[in-house]
Amino acid sequence: MPDSVYRFGCPALDEEVDLLLVGDSLAMVVYGFDSTLPVTLDMMIAHGAAVTRATRHAAIVVDLPFGSYQASPADAFRAAARVMAETGCMAVKLEGGEEMAETVAFLARRGIPVMGHVGLTPQAVNELGGYRSRGHEAGERRKILADGVAIADAGAFALVVEGVNEGLARELTATVAVPTIGIGASPACDGQILVTDDMLGLFADFTPKFVKRYRNLGDDIRDAARDYAVDVRGGRFPAPEHTYTAPAKRAKTAAS
Ligand code: KIV
Repeated sequence: MPDSVYRFGCPALDEEVDLLLVGDSLAMVVYGFDSTLPVTLDMMIAHGAAVTRATRHAAIVVDLPFGSYQASPADAFRAAARVMAETGCMAVKLEGGEEMAETVAFLARRGIPVMGHVGLTPQAVNELGGYRSRGHEAGERRKILADGVAIADAGAFALVVEGVNEGLARELTATVAVPTIGIGASPACDGQILVTDDMLGLFADFTPKFVKRYRNLGDDIRDAARDYAVDVRGGRFPAPEHTYTAPAKRAKTAAS
């Protein structure tokens, strides 16, 4: 990719972070769905390939979308192989605990690095009954711990831990041999991840407790759009410096 293109693509993120996840939350922040469920494998591949093309430094992981991997390890392999081959990413992520351990092992043994995702798993929102944080009660806490251990033992290279209480995040991080990457899971995790639109203030007025807004780019975009419309309506844009006019005639030289 030419430098001129690279400078204005993902590099603003790419140069600062170690890992870029092309998450299925794009269903909500890019496409305006109210859950991650409607996103398709083709949509994930299109976004994953675009991010890979615009990235030179960070490791890229792409989410397997709902319905592409849960039915069987063979389904998961077909979906993951397409994602890897068509995007050029280095790994896939899938959600789930003990019930997905066989699938994680199946993929890992066949050359597909897998990142796990336990705790609050948004693809299971209809079963969980919402997006509330988890692991506050002993039974749920034991189950999420067992989920994390099963996925790590099955060969996942890292574990996203989402929306759990600090004590559980600490125990999970101390127990599993792979790095934990927290989102709404306290500073106890080995690493952290946030949805870019949330941290940049691009998505909705509501900011969940676990998000820190580093910028309010949504406000900047609205201000820029307003300034542009005011300029156009007021005849101030385009100005002479933005306007093509006939090239000035070349003066004849002495030799011609
Ligand atoms: O899709 C996503 O953005 C994610 C993060 C919540 C980790 O999976």
